[in-house]
Amino acid sequence: MKSLILTGFMGAGKSSVAHILSQTLGLRLVDLDKEIETNAGMKISEIFENQGEKRFRAIETECLRRAISRGGVVMATGGGVLTTPANVELMSEAVVVNLDADIETLLHRVRGTEGRRPLLLGGEHKVRELFAERRALYDAVPLRVATEGLSALEVASRVSALYFAQVGEVDDQG
Ligand code: S3P
Repeated sequence: MKSLILTGFMGAGKSSVAHILSQTLGLRLVDLDKEIETNAGMKISEIFENQGEKRFRAIETECLRRAISRGGVVMATGGGVLTTPANVELMSEAVVVNLDADIETLLHRVRGTEGRRPLLLGGEHKVRELFAERRALYDAVPLRVATEGLSALEVASRVSALYFAQVGEVDDQG
């Protein structure tokens, strides 16, 4: 089966939705942030702190390349994956769905997770700036689901419908 990749800003719900989809679609779950931590042998916050964001992005691309080459996976990516053009190229062989939400909702969802999300440490103003900078990248993903007011299950069901429409199969996942 073709791989399915979820993108979107921090707090978009990529990990929980990917988890549900791995069960309903029977695809192997890959959480890219977790792969990065395993690969680097340290937490994402430690990679940022000790080696910097540039190194983090290099590991991210390497882990993405490896995960995609496995095929038949459903993958939750980190919110910055679209900022590296090579990643967008790698992802083109999969079905990519962006999870959309407005910045107020995203800020609310990520509150209190600064310990594991180093890019939140600059404060709310910086996060708003980052979102504004990246917005065009998320908007450029042709398949998107507006997650506002939906449960993770409802989002998963919409993603699933988009996925089946792309791979040309009937969606019997409900
Ligand atoms: C990042 C998002 C994080 C993680 C890293 C960088 C980003 O993932 O990859 O902290 O650049 O937006 P989540 O989107 O899962 O929080």
